Order: sequence, then C-alpha cells, then structure tokens
Amino acid sequence: MKLERLNLVENNALINGAWTQEASGRVFPVLNPADGTLLTEVADCGAVEAKAAVDAANKAFPLWSGKLHKERAQLLRRWFDLLMVHREDLARLISSEQGKCMAESRGEVDYGAAYVEWFAEEAKRDYGDVIPEPLKDRKVIVIRQPVGVVACITPWNFPIAMIARKIAPALAAGCTVVCKPAEDTPLSSLAIAKLAEEAGIPPGVINIVPASRQRAAEVVDVWLADGRVRKLTFTGSTPVGKHLARESANTLKRLSMELGGNAPFIVFDDADLDAAVEGALVAKFRNSGQTCVCANRLLVQDGVYDAFAAKLALAVAKLKVAPATDPDAEQGPLINEKAIAKVEDHVQDAVSKGAKVLLGGKRHALGGNFFEPTVLIDVTTEMKLCSEETFGPLAPLFRFKTEAEAVALANDTPFGLAAYFYSKDLGRVWRVAEELQVGMVGINEGRISTEVAPFGGIKESGYGREGSKYGMEDYQYIKYLCMGGLGDPTN
Ligand code: SIN
Repeated sequence: MKLERLNLVENNALINGAWTQEASGRVFPVLNPADGTLLTEVADCGAVEAKAAVDAANKAFPLWSGKLHKERAQLLRRWFDLLMVHREDLARLISSEQGKCMAESRGEVDYGAAYVEWFAEEAKRDYGDVIPEPLKDRKVIVIRQPVGVVACITPWNFPIAMIARKIAPALAAGCTVVCKPAEDTPLSSLAIAKLAEEAGIPPGVINIVPASRQRAAEVVDVWLADGRVRKLTFTGSTPVGKHLARESANTLKRLSMELGGNAPFIVFDDADLDAAVEGALVAKFRNSGQTCVCANRLLVQDGVYDAFAAKLALAVAKLKVAPATDPDAEQGPLINEKAIAKVEDHVQDAVSKGAKVLLGGKRHALGGNFFEPTVLIDVTTEMKLCSEETFGPLAPLFRFKTEAEAVALANDTPFGLAAYFYSKDLGRVWRVAEELQVGMVGINEGRISTEVAPFGGIKESGYGREGSKYGMEDYQYIKYLCMGGLGDPTN
C-alpha cells in the first residue's frame, strides 16, 4: 500500500476519540484479495469494546444533538473537504483491501463523500411542520428529533460509501454512532473516521469497532441487547438482516435494512441495443458484479436476443481483468474464495441444465480470486442463478416473448431492490416502471446510484431509504406538540 499519508492506515478501534486496542491485544489479519498477501492486522474487538463504544456514543449524544444544525453542517462539510483532500490515498486503501480497480475506487471515494456533502447541506433544512389547528385556542406543531445512538453495520463491497451514507445522515440529524465495518475491509472506514476526527467532530460521536468474522456476532449482540441503541442500520444479506430484525424486537429499535437483490435487466425489441450494452456493462460488471443493485438476470426479447448477446459478449471481452495495481485494470478480483466458488457453481449448474457459455465461464488465468467476465445464453428459470444472487461477473441471458412475460419474470423473486429496462416506447416505459416490484428502476440507464436519490428496496430487499431528501428521516422521530390555552381570555 503506497500512501502519501501513511498514518491513514489505522489498526485500532476508535472509541470515545481514542484509538483503542482490543482488551487483550487480540488482532485479525486484513488481506489483499488480489494476491492473498497480508496488508496489516487490526484490533479484533469483542463485547468489552462494543459496550465501551455505546457508553461513548451515549455520553456524546446530548452535546452533539444540542449543537445548532448549522454547526453540525459545518463539521460535516469540513469532513467532506478532508475526504476530497485525501481522495487518492483513500482510493488506494479501498483497492488494497477490497480489490476494485483504482478508477472505481476513486469513484467510490467521490460517491461516499457526496453523501457527507449532501447531508451537510440537508442538516440545515431539517424543517418541521405547522398543522392548521382543529380548535381556536391551540397550535399544532411537528418537530423532528434525533433517535439517539445508532448502530451501523456495513459491508465489504463499498467500504467507504456504505458507511459514509449511514454516518452522514445520522450525524446531520443529531445522532451519534457505533459502527462495525465488514471483516474484510476495516481499513477504509477507520481512515475516514480519522479524517472525521480531524474535521473536528467531537470524541464519542463516531465510534468504529472492527471485529473478525469469528467475533462480529459478539459485538453486534451487545448492540442488539442494549436499549440505549435506538436504531440499527444494516447493509448486507437478507438472512442476516432478518436475524438482526428479529433480535432488535426486544428493544424495539428503529431499523433500516438494505438487503440482497436479484435485479432484472430487461432489453425490449425496441431498445437502443448499443445503449443497452453500455448500461449492462455498468449494471452487471461494476465492482466485478459485487453490488447489491447488480443486474442478476438479463431478460432479452426474442427479436433482439442474438444481436444483443453478440454485442454484449464483444464488449465484455474487452474488459481488462487485472489487479488494482495495473492502471488499466477494469475488473478486479472477487473478495474471497467463497465468492469465486459461488460464481463457479452458478456457471456449472447452468451449463449442466443446458446453458451455453458465450464468453468466459471459468477461473481466470491470473489465479487467486480472479474470475473471467462471463456471458451465458439459453439460460432458464430452473437454474440456480435465476433465484440466487450471484454477486460476481456473470451475465446470464434469459429469452422472453411478450412484455407481460418479461414483467412476470422480473417480479418472480422475493427480492425487490433494483430493476433496469431499455425501451424507446414511452407508453411501455411508464407501464413497466410502475409494474416492476422494486425500490429503484433504471430506465435506459445502468447507473442509478447517487446521493440525491432515495436508495433502498421493497419485499425481502428490506426497508428504509439512504440518501436524498428522505434520508435523514430514518434517523429521526417526529414529535407532535399541542400548544393549548392560546385563546384570548377577554373574549
Ligand atoms: C450496495 O451494493 O450495497 C450498494 C451499491 C450502490 O450504492 O450503488
């Protein structure tokens, strides 16, 4: 890891403004997924540190929530500025521990920082309401208040963006946070927490508690049981999300769940095929297919199936697979062996049931966690890749005949995060957009993620929205004030 500022690599937890070792000095390794080499070791926290983090966040809450909205906005803005100053180092950290190519890592720093900037601005527009009174002598007012301490549990696929888009609205609303970054990628979140401190965000407002896969549950269990933690926000798999939701019931925490997806990407006969290929490259191969909004099933209408398949295979074949140290890299390694094994299993299962490999289909010659960008044709709904999220660089092409069939196929999943479709017919655009059972729809567009729009799903993809003008609401209670006795006593 070649960083301009070496001390952005932090190995300890951040608790109450102090960089803290695990009580007995226990650590866990952070590996480079491109070659399995050891990057560094990080404090492997447990129940003691988890509780200390809640104590700190709880203590900091009155001070932080008592600040003027404008003061919180200024501190968040300063944090954003520092994220931008250290953009290149942060991108290197992401690439080192997560594997994505540098262009995508730079994009992720910008994307994560944009949430901080956005919520710095939103903090100042935290309006309440005045409701027309039902009786002459009173006023009815609604104010928004921070929920309190928030637990943030974040994934490895966007180690900066996912934690930034939870911490920024929480802080803007006046909450304090305890965060557990993913085991594979703790360094990026520790680095941005260091920059938050330097921006002047007070001790205890942001606490980061890294833990290994073996100890993660110990940390999270403390937060689930602690009634002072008033909200939990999680990005990750649906089974883990369901577990967290069940366990949060004892203390009735507020919840935001950004869970698994199974996004359809539909190409209709009337689509601009070149635009659809361009969109598919982004929607499918961004982060080597490791995003929850990645197109998982490409549904292509009969009339353009062969032409689209050929064009897509041609474009995918040009993607350069290489470690992030190669400046021309476009597709990096997957996060670990388990991820590779899943893609391999999906390909083998599909081929055994009649799918044909148009491109790729096996582990890459680079070895390790690299997999060839793959296009499969003649894919059917009996194959595992239809019902399971592949989370890798595999584009399976299903064939359909009618619009109704495409919509039925698209909705035939318990998940409902994102969907994409390509069509030039305005009537169809409105019909299909309304019929798709998802939280987000890309229409003639493969890149939908932005801080200005509400990110989140429906069905078993979860609930809550991140980003946009709605994003702060998830961290607030609304309180109704009934002010009486306002009538004129002389009347
Ligand atoms: C995710 O994969 O969880 C988020 C992807 C995004 O924000 O675009």
